Amino acid sequence: MRIVIPGGTGQLGALLTRALAPQGHDVVVLSRSGRAPEGARGVRWDGATLGPWAAELDGASAVINLAGRTVNCRPSARNRQQMMTSRVFSTQAVGQAIAQATRPPPVWLQMSTATLYAHRFDAPNDEATGIIGGAEPDAPAWWASSVWVGQAWERALAEADTPHTRKVALRTAMVMSPDRGGVFDYLLQLTRLGLHGPIAGGRQFVSWIHGDDFVRAVRFLMQAEHVHGPVNLCAPEPLPQRDFAAALRDAWGARVGLPAAGWMVALGAWLLRTDTELVRKSRRVVPGRLLADGFDFEHPAWPGAARALVAARRGAQGALPAPV
Ligand SMILES: NC(=O)c1ccc[n+]([C@@H]2O[C@H](COP(=O)([O-])OP(=O)(O)OC[C@H]3O[C@@H](n4cnc5c(N)ncnc54)[C@H](OP(=O)(O)O)[C@@H]3O)[C@@H](O)[C@H]2O)c1
Repeated sequence: MRIVIPGGTGQLGALLTRALAPQGHDVVVLSRSGRAPEGARGVRWDGATLGPWAAELDGASAVINLAGRTVNCRPSARNRQQMMTSRVFSTQAVGQAIAQATRPPPVWLQMSTATLYAHRFDAPNDEATGIIGGAEPDAPAWWASSVWVGQAWERALAEADTPHTRKVALRTAMVMSPDRGGVFDYLLQLTRLGLHGPIAGGRQFVSWIHGDDFVRAVRFLMQAEHVHGPVNLCAPEPLPQRDFAAALRDAWGARVGLPAAGWMVALGAWLLRTDTELVRKSRRVVPGRLLADGFDFEHPAWPGAARALVAARRGAQGALPAPV
């Protein structure tokens, strides 16, 4: 199969390439630099307009669009604007390329975000009954802009005129893989420093998915011909942040996890040039559609997933096993 991955130069593109390329698939990564993870073929695009790259989608077996400016940055107006335009323009460009293809790909998996759902504690959000965020009375006003980005991203997918291509929006939670530079790496550094305790009380829920299950879910959705529309990609057991941190400390064998008050989180986020929303918003999201379709999680609960990630990290020493 030829599988085209726009924006595949980051953590998730590397995970997918590591799983798909060894099976003999022709993995094509579209990037602004022309770079690609090992095992993939890099093709240059600008992430916004049609170009020669569009030929790669003609006759492809699947498109998995991951492109978008990282959300791990200060919530400035400029960064927010780039988060929005990089996602909407790249999705529109992918849609135009599919629309003009003589042999359009049968499936387009489009990255979206679990951050679309409301900041809440009372009940989990699935695709059917979940509440879309943006108007929570107990959340800072600027958190709404992440919801608007997610909505605009999915709207660009929905509006693409691609009648012969099945479209799925991947509402993805934090993907945990042992690789350097990913979110797990960051949390592990905090854990090793004794700084991964309850954050601002630790009542907020953390939704997550193990990298292996992310890859398995993507494969599942490539083949599940009846599935259209939004699908939550997250483990079935989100948990409060204080329990999440404690389980990672246990897995690593860290005895100390200092709590961080709200003002400390704000200062830390400013120093690290990131956004407190990433750790303070309560993300209580569950994979309703995947479970209803019989998808079987290898890592449904965080304590076991954390132990597996720590073991992979300790055993790897730079040469990580390919996710299955
Ligand atoms: N990692 C997670 O836990 C997670 C969870 C939920 C959702 N997501 C979403 O999934 C996608 C992939 O995640 P990732 O962690 O692999 O992200 P990443 O490491 O930030 O990679 C995203 C890719 O998007 C491309 N990009 C950045 N700015 C762009 C722009 N202005 N125009 C076009 N392309 C641009 C970059 O490719 P080039 O620089 O090579 O062009 C980059 O490699 C992202 O959209 C992210 O928001 C990630």
